[in-house]
Amino acid sequence: MNTKFRLLPDSASNFAGDVDKLTLFLTVVSVIITLVVCGLIAFFAIKYRRRHVDDMPPREEPGRWTEILWSAVLFVLLMVMFFWGAEIYMRMKRPAPNATEINVTAKRWMWKIQHPSGQREINELHIPVGQPVKLTMISEDVIHSFSVPAFRIKQDVIPGSYSTQWFTPTKVGEYHLFCQEYCGTLHSDMIGRVVVMEEKDYQAWLAGVSVNVTPVEEGAKLFATYGCLTCHGQNAPSLAGLFGRQQKLDDGSTVLADEEYLRESIINPAAKVVAGYGRLMPSFRAQLSDEQVSALVSYIKTLGAAKSDEPGQANSAAPATQPVNGVPPNSVPNLPPAAQPPGVWPQPSGEN
Ligand code: CUA
Repeated sequence: MNTKFRLLPDSASNFAGDVDKLTLFLTVVSVIITLVVCGLIAFFAIKYRRRHVDDMPPREEPGRWTEILWSAVLFVLLMVMFFWGAEIYMRMKRPAPNATEINVTAKRWMWKIQHPSGQREINELHIPVGQPVKLTMISEDVIHSFSVPAFRIKQDVIPGSYSTQWFTPTKVGEYHLFCQEYCGTLHSDMIGRVVVMEEKDYQAWLAGVSVNVTPVEEGAKLFATYGCLTCHGQNAPSLAGLFGRQQKLDDGSTVLADEEYLRESIINPAAKVVAGYGRLMPSFRAQLSDEQVSALVSYIKTLGAAKSDEPGQANSAAPATQPVNGVPPNSVPNLPPAAQPPGVWPQPSGEN
């Protein structure tokens, strides 16, 4: 941060320019309307002031066209604000399909961050410039808010449910990370920095941080430890290719199998029961920390997706298993044995 006075923070993400233009528009419109209203109040107060004690002006109704005109002008202005804002909001809610997925766990009073390749950091986020990033965030205690003014992003991070935020950093540098929701005594200390680096510097940074285990590996281990496979794929629904698919539920509705659905199904399995199956699964709320659940979710997301990573036979056997940009694959996840990742997902023959 340099010392010269600036009206706005750095403009360092793909959203910054758009958010600034909208903010400028809202500010200019508000200032103009305020000036016109205040100016007219002052002008009329003087022009129509009472000059004698028995001054009684005649009552005048505004003309119909005056009313129509100012209603229409304000209506159009407000609609412009609405659609402009909604368009940016919707873009901010749809992560780029190739985004790097980073897990964020907030707790009083720190940000715990884990990269897909396993590197962990606290109150710091290192990312490469020009590469979209998707944050999947959860809180272990109260509501926090992940805010990076230079990126023009701010997203509440709440206990018991994932919130996501994506952006593409566009400028190398260091930027403030704030918690922007009062979360207790040390709320104002719950700060950090986002370091945006050139790709090669980022790779060097990744290589310099020791990794015990990646989220997917940890998830796979938990998956085995808790014996998930004893049921799933047999008398419980198969998880292969589940992520990104529309899942039919027993109440007739469907739900998109996203991160939040997977999380909820581990913590509170009775909330959404897959059509054709009973309420058999126990809750793992007591056994698993939020970070462990995130690791499990990361692992489950790879089931099915892993197939297209296999050379040769996999792609031809299962062309549509990998969800593309949230679009559910149109094939069923029961695949021939050749298309399965080795040792990870033995698929029982038969139903589902
Ligand atoms: Cu966390 Cu304020």
